[in-house]
Amino acid sequence: MRTVIEGLAERRAQARLGGGERRVAAQHAKGKLTARERIELLLDPGSFEEFGMFVEHRSTDFGMERQKIPGDGVVTGWGTINGRLVFVFAKDFTVFGGSLSEAHAEKVQKIQDMALRARAPIIGLYDAGGARIQEGVAALGGYAEIFRRNVEASGVIPQISVIMGPCAGGDVYSPAMTDFIFMVRDTSYMFVTGPDVVKTVTNESVTAEDLGGARVHTTKSAIADGAFENDVEALLQMRRLVDFLPANNRSGVPEWPTADLASRHEASLDTLVPDSANKPYDMKELILKVADEGDFFEIQADFARNIVTGFIRLEGRTVGVVANQPTVLAGVLDYDASRKAARFVRFCDCFEIPIVTFVDVPGFLPGTAQEYGGLIKHGAKLLFAYSQASVPLVTIITRKAYGGAYDVMASKHIGADVNYAWPTAQIAVMGAKGAVEIIFRGGDAETIARQTKEYEDRFMSPFVAAERGYVDEVILPHSTRRRVARALAMLRGKASEQPWRKHDNIPL
Ligand code: HXC
Repeated sequence: MRTVIEGLAERRAQARLGGGERRVAAQHAKGKLTARERIELLLDPGSFEEFGMFVEHRSTDFGMERQKIPGDGVVTGWGTINGRLVFVFAKDFTVFGGSLSEAHAEKVQKIQDMALRARAPIIGLYDAGGARIQEGVAALGGYAEIFRRNVEASGVIPQISVIMGPCAGGDVYSPAMTDFIFMVRDTSYMFVTGPDVVKTVTNESVTAEDLGGARVHTTKSAIADGAFENDVEALLQMRRLVDFLPANNRSGVPEWPTADLASRHEASLDTLVPDSANKPYDMKELILKVADEGDFFEIQADFARNIVTGFIRLEGRTVGVVANQPTVLAGVLDYDASRKAARFVRFCDCFEIPIVTFVDVPGFLPGTAQEYGGLIKHGAKLLFAYSQASVPLVTIITRKAYGGAYDVMASKHIGADVNYAWPTAQIAVMGAKGAVEIIFRGGDAETIARQTKEYEDRFMSPFVAAERGYVDEVILPHSTRRRVARALAMLRGKASEQPWRKHDNIPL
């Protein structure tokens, strides 16, 4: 028995070495951790249970039968994050560049199946060279099996991808079908085809960083939901994110103890909105002051900054926040902001996370660039997502709620449950000056000024909407946290029924 146990220990030790000391040193020299070091940081100490440590590829081409490394380029298993179950797979770049063979794919599929069966989140850590070139079509089949499982699990368990090195070819599409993608700055990149292929096909010269680095994907393509300075920060932030997420679509949001009283007043909010309607203020200040302990996990912080999305807690329970940001483009809705918020609303709705919407929006952004870019369809995504959401929806209009954007931003009419307005709210078809210039076209300056004042007095307040019941109550800014927390508590048992359908046809 002793020899057997020693044999096991030896095999384990060898598997833990991955691609060997030289490759591990090369990995560290690039500022990257190894797959196992990453898992150690991601999970609670000692909680990782590894599966498939001895799996090897079955390839016999190109001398591969002489090159077998236990684990075959991916470390898989389960563990806990702050005591809550998660499944994880981490590509091991030190083993065949983390490339995907048939056996490697089967390991990932097994973990995907287990996560779905156990109804617990799955986190993939990517650092890989795509399909195992020596294997060809077996690798393609392996990818497709993974993709299908991503889709099957979508909306059932949270799926998170963290890109911590190269991620190209077949490796990009699985993350793309998960709920969130995060990247590490300077050491990670994602693209379908790399700089060499780009040069051959389109004659463009571009670096890997400019083609698919963290900056590109967090600011331009919106493929990534955030980026971090290094592996350690990325993994610690993933622990923080998981604390916000439900285990699955039926579990309900996690509830953490908090010492922050729901009744906490924030007197400073009474002066947050400036006297002049054209002066910006930072909507994030409101979000932070409403949140338990000021804790806000922002999603897509660097993309379409005119809208803010992310998670907070109220009374210890997760809440999704969508908020127009007056400091960027006056908080206008454009196509990027619309699709960013739409995807976030859909995430919250499939995982039963209530949504609080803070509104200060001057409308949709006019212009050919927007219309040619599909503003109608992208705006419709947000309208569709909110209209379909059956989770508790609480809306607070702080200042402007103009035109179509008023309807879209979780108005009563599209299904919000509780709609509050601050006394500074202006709910109208458009700004007073624009409205008067249309009604009194050709009028002299004095008429325009007089009528603008009259329009402002009549329409630029929360009361026209309140008189019709479109807002439930005009609330004092300092009481926002208490009012929102109470509304969400009241809505905890919200039930809503939708007609049977196979699935909807959201404008994609
Ligand atoms: C087998 C691979 C590999 C691969 C890397 N390696 N990629 N082995 N299959 N796809 C091996 C290398 O041979 C090397 O082995 C080790 O991993 C590290 O690779 P390096 O090139 O030394 O590292 P680096 O300079 O950091 O470059 C990383 C890289 C590069 C950019 C990822 O390796 C690369 O371009 N690889 C090929 C990428 C690719 O074309 N993949 C196929 C995509 S097609 P040793 O033994 O020297 O350590 C695809 C289709 C699927 O994925 C589509 C499904 C929808």
